[in-house]
Amino acid sequence: PRVSLWGGRFAGGPADALAALSLSTHFDWRLAGHDIAGSMAHARVLHGAGLLTPDELAGMEAALAVLRADVASGAFRPEPADEDVHTALERGLLDRAGVELGGKLRAGRSRNDQIATLVRMYLREQARTVSGLLLDVVDALIDQAAAHREAPMPGRTHMQHAQPVLLAHHLLAHAWPMLRDVERWVDWDARAALSPYGGGALAGSSLGLDPAAIAAELGFDGPVENSIDGTASRDVVAEFAFVAAMTGIDLSRIAEEVVIWATREFGFVRLDDSYSTGSSIMPQKKNPDVAELARGKAGRLIGDLTGLLATLKGLPLAYNRDLQEDKEPVFDQIDTLTVLLPAFAGMVATLTFDTGRMAELAPQGFSLATDVAEWLVREGVPFRVAHELAGACVRECEERGIELWDLTDAELAGISAHLTPALRAVLTVEGSLASRSAYGGTAPVRVAEQLGRARARAAEL
Ligand code: ARG
Repeated sequence: PRVSLWGGRFAGGPADALAALSLSTHFDWRLAGHDIAGSMAHARVLHGAGLLTPDELAGMEAALAVLRADVASGAFRPEPADEDVHTALERGLLDRAGVELGGKLRAGRSRNDQIATLVRMYLREQARTVSGLLLDVVDALIDQAAAHREAPMPGRTHMQHAQPVLLAHHLLAHAWPMLRDVERWVDWDARAALSPYGGGALAGSSLGLDPAAIAAELGFDGPVENSIDGTASRDVVAEFAFVAAMTGIDLSRIAEEVVIWATREFGFVRLDDSYSTGSSIMPQKKNPDVAELARGKAGRLIGDLTGLLATLKGLPLAYNRDLQEDKEPVFDQIDTLTVLLPAFAGMVATLTFDTGRMAELAPQGFSLATDVAEWLVREGVPFRVAHELAGACVRECEERGIELWDLTDAELAGISAHLTPALRAVLTVEGSLASRSAYGGTAPVRVAEQLGRARARAAEL
């Protein structure tokens, strides 16, 4: 028989079609442990308010402990007739504590304040777990950077050769946004750390229950300020979903580069066999599936966020059943990141870079032209003129199919008297890199310091 939480004013049970629509245990059952923790805390707060005798509290705690064990072992499971995690656990409690005692636990709480609290508890835990997995990716990037401290590569803008940079600098440029994603979850936690429990359906409790006491029991910093806000807002969930989507975007950006780098045309990286896949028809194939799945799953992570935002838009206060739709998007994000991040960290950790090829390409495409212009500026030439002269050098080289450093002293002097042989100091990748020594630049000395700071930041988080 269907156990309903609202028998009194209804003549019959819900239609099967409604029950099927309403059902949420297939996704909210993962909150069962948190629901029981909430019930334990609620029982103690009921006792504190004089609504449970010491004996009743002991009986309730014992029954909940048995229920917790049965849930953990799988002996107790939701049945098709249980609408949601709360309904299922209510049935489990009534079975174990008896209807008389078990029926007292519902006093002063609603599934509205329960679910709002459980989601926060669960997301706070998951934010820590997922952050840890993301930091493993960051560590892999930092380790690769540390292993390639001096290796140059072509730095690009618009995908065109722009200026030489260190491979380590480029890899760290992917690590910092991921560190910020972890920081976002840390900052977010301060807002998630307030408990809606005690808000009831929307208006707060009349039974002398202390929301601060239950907040403390459940590891929150305190209760929310407003029972309507606590039960009806989900911006905390949406903010979590944004960080998860942003994480997906940050992963997909380097994923796209790995896909390109692994092409025959680029040949910058070789994927380890353990993090690449073959083809069922083409024997030679070695495919970057981890990177492609990361790129693909970023779309899914973004979709979860936008779906949730669309659900929240225009919802009047207070609780509306639409809010049940808040969970699947973030649960999907968590599940997605939980499988993706370890594979991604493994892929990054096992990449082999062809540093010889990257170094060879670094100065090509006239990527030292900016160095020529800036050298001229240091010689006192106005940048507008310097830019023109460097451009003239490029034009000359392009016409003749040579590189900037192939121009003879006489040819340089022919373009401008300012272009003396001393210019050759910056016509090398090493010279160019070393000159970019301002804070945050790609000079090896700066990148070495940056590496230390990235490591320190990752260790702090
Ligand atoms: N399952 C609901 C949710 O996830 C909580 C139950 C609230 N239901 C209600 N009729 N007030 O949001």
